[in-house]
Amino acid sequence: MRIGVLTSGGDAPGLNAVIRGAVLNGERHYGMTFVGIRDGWRGLVDADFQTLARADVKGIGKLGGTILGSSRTNPFEGNGGIDRINQVMTEAEMDGLLVIGGEGTLAAANRLSEAGINIVGVPKTVDNDLSATDYTFGFDTAVNVATEAMDRLRTTGDSHHRCMVAEVMGRHVGWIALHSGMAAGAHVILIPERKTSLDEIVGWVTSAFERGRAPLVCVAEGFLLDTMDDAHSERGLDAFGRPRLGGIGEKLAPLIEEATGIETRATTLGHIQRGGTPSAFDRVLATRFGMNATRAISEGNWGSLVALRGTDIVNTSFESALGQLKTVPDERWSEAALLFG
Ligand code: F6P
Repeated sequence: MRIGVLTSGGDAPGLNAVIRGAVLNGERHYGMTFVGIRDGWRGLVDADFQTLARADVKGIGKLGGTILGSSRTNPFEGNGGIDRINQVMTEAEMDGLLVIGGEGTLAAANRLSEAGINIVGVPKTVDNDLSATDYTFGFDTAVNVATEAMDRLRTTGDSHHRCMVAEVMGRHVGWIALHSGMAAGAHVILIPERKTSLDEIVGWVTSAFERGRAPLVCVAEGFLLDTMDDAHSERGLDAFGRPRLGGIGEKLAPLIEEATGIETRATTLGHIQRGGTPSAFDRVLATRFGMNATRAISEGNWGSLVALRGTDIVNTSFESALGQLKTVPDERWSEAALLFG
């Protein structure tokens, strides 16, 4: 069998480990061959390919980014569509696709699968917001990067008796903020799922400062004050018409400073959280996802998605990853909030 592999949407540490796991297992155990599709759906629609054999994936498990490139292209727009994709796959003699991506990518994969195209999916997002799987690769790395950054911010906060605000990723969900904030011992954690008033934030900041601590506030990019209707966005829309987030930390810092009199500085971590070497956890999860995706293909389990349940890798439906995001349950935020202030 000849399988086209693509990575689509925002990059996440571990993408290369998925590709490597799939190619090694597919070649060795199922006699598969692979075609690398460049820049996500764009490369499929444009028939832009690269070789993807064992030699091409040598040593890539520890590399961030994706050797195939990625894009946020919609496969149904422009020259795309089901007929064009069928034509490209026939000409390239591809029997099926292995698609690695987040919710938008998996929604497109589901549509193509329903139209009869052979696809197996691998879930990906640093935000960890896909309900089909307990964890996505990339999340652990992002949490580790954010935690280390906050440890560093704390030393400056301590030296200068400042309040430090760290903004982390998390468009709709606060998993990165919750985990990195708890790990770094933040005095306040602010997540998109839970609107919070400035008075509450100021109360926690003041109480930490009065105990002689330099207050640390960890805020997810998608957080809303109780006075806001939409997440803070100042950089226009992305290719799917979604607002580009980022900047809520810079917005909060002067409000906290004005209300408390404590010098307050904000740092936005942004793409630093998505870049660089994947953690060991992410490498293992991603490798297992890649290996199990080729197992699913070998069993003819088209139209399915690999997922982590507990410590097992299972096969599930595309639908299980779509429609409903895995948000932070209220009790998880309340548990963390016991240590605020
Ligand atoms: O979905 C993952 C994510 O990193 C979000 O946390 C963030 O809002 C978005 O992607 C940023 O996307 P881009 O890199 O396209 O600006």
